[in-house]
Amino acid sequence: MTAPVSTRTPDGLWFGKDLSTPEPIPEDAIERAVALMRSGRLHRYGEQGTGYPEPSLLEQDYAAYVGSKYCVAVSSCGAAMYIALKALGVKPGDKVLTSTFTLAPVPGAIAHAGAQAVLVDTSADYMTDIADLERKAAASGAKVFLLSHMRGHIADLQALRAICDKHGIAIIEDCAHTMGAKWDGRHTGTWGKIGCYSAQTYKHINSGEGGLLVTDDDDIAAQAILMSGSYMMYDQHILRPSAEIFERWRYITPNFSMRMSNLAAALLRPQIGQLAERGRRWNHIYTTLERELTKAQKVSVPARHPKEEFVASSIQFTLDLKPSQIERFLKECNLRGLYIKWFGSATPVAFTSNYEHWHYLSGKPDIPKSMGVLNQLLDLRTPLSLTDADCALIGQIVVAAVQIAAAH
Ligand SMILES: Cc1ncc(COP(=O)(O)O)c(C=O)c1O
Repeated sequence: MTAPVSTRTPDGLWFGKDLSTPEPIPEDAIERAVALMRSGRLHRYGEQGTGYPEPSLLEQDYAAYVGSKYCVAVSSCGAAMYIALKALGVKPGDKVLTSTFTLAPVPGAIAHAGAQAVLVDTSADYMTDIADLERKAAASGAKVFLLSHMRGHIADLQALRAICDKHGIAIIEDCAHTMGAKWDGRHTGTWGKIGCYSAQTYKHINSGEGGLLVTDDDDIAAQAILMSGSYMMYDQHILRPSAEIFERWRYITPNFSMRMSNLAAALLRPQIGQLAERGRRWNHIYTTLERELTKAQKVSVPARHPKEEFVASSIQFTLDLKPSQIERFLKECNLRGLYIKWFGSATPVAFTSNYEHWHYLSGKPDIPKSMGVLNQLLDLRTPLSLTDADCALIGQIVVAAVQIAAAH
């Protein structure tokens, strides 16, 4: 089959695939979901013994998968991060350290808790700038660091832990982009006090909306279950702390109604078993695209650390051009049916925004490196349907678009 050709550009290059196309839901998950719909039992709790509902089974499976003591299924990763902040005792007005390179739900969770985000700078390889973290951990007075493993880039977690431990700072890991990924053999989400994951359609597992919170801490687990909205039916969680621990929390913990439904959990359970295989396929696409993209002048992809077992459901690259040239680059890619995102855009676009667009943040952030990094940072989704030929074509388009933009 010959590649489709564009008549809109002299080079005739045309990609045209929708990069946001998700994988289908596995058949066994669909069957389970249909059976649940027939039963009408879509809420996870029941007053008269409905057995262990789907989210409880999912929690058990997922905790075993990452190696955590507890898992609580919630309505989104944003909900998990909010609950995590509240369970760690963050109060309105408190400072919370967080990654600058992330997406809007992360500062959003901090704002939801009424706290103030203190942005930590971004290194040239898209991760937490360790020296800046050291400085702000000492100076900010924050007791929590909401660390975003943004786009699957995992910073040296031993180094980050050492800094936070020294200053009595608890880490919440935002693993919306690192489900299945590990640092030094251990799952992301288990390096700090609490790990938060997403099951939104464009993540590693998909129930439309959904989130998972993991922890080894009894008191945090009890609060998270109550806050998520268990009412007094917390004994329907298979993974739960003892009745004495709940006794400490049940009268003083608000119910935020952020539960996961039976339906979402039924869709997710069979997908946990697919994570390893999906990870292998994603990483094949990543290495193929990395090879093709770096054929373009001015394009670089940061080297990955040997301790980082990443799962790449997208690829980022630095394009060493001025903002006006990057705009031209994006236009040329678009003309060839290739949708690339840019973290340096002056205005927020679709899912993509940067700290300059979050006007609700207080004060002027002190992050001298981040804008330089974001201004040249491009972002491409990599659906599992991408073939080697697709990757080669994307590479050709990027090479052509860079050439035009660089001459502009
Ligand atoms: C980096 C990051 N963290 C957290 C979230 C929040 O996930 P959710 O949509 O499940 O709330 C997202 C969502 O896209 C994200 O990109």
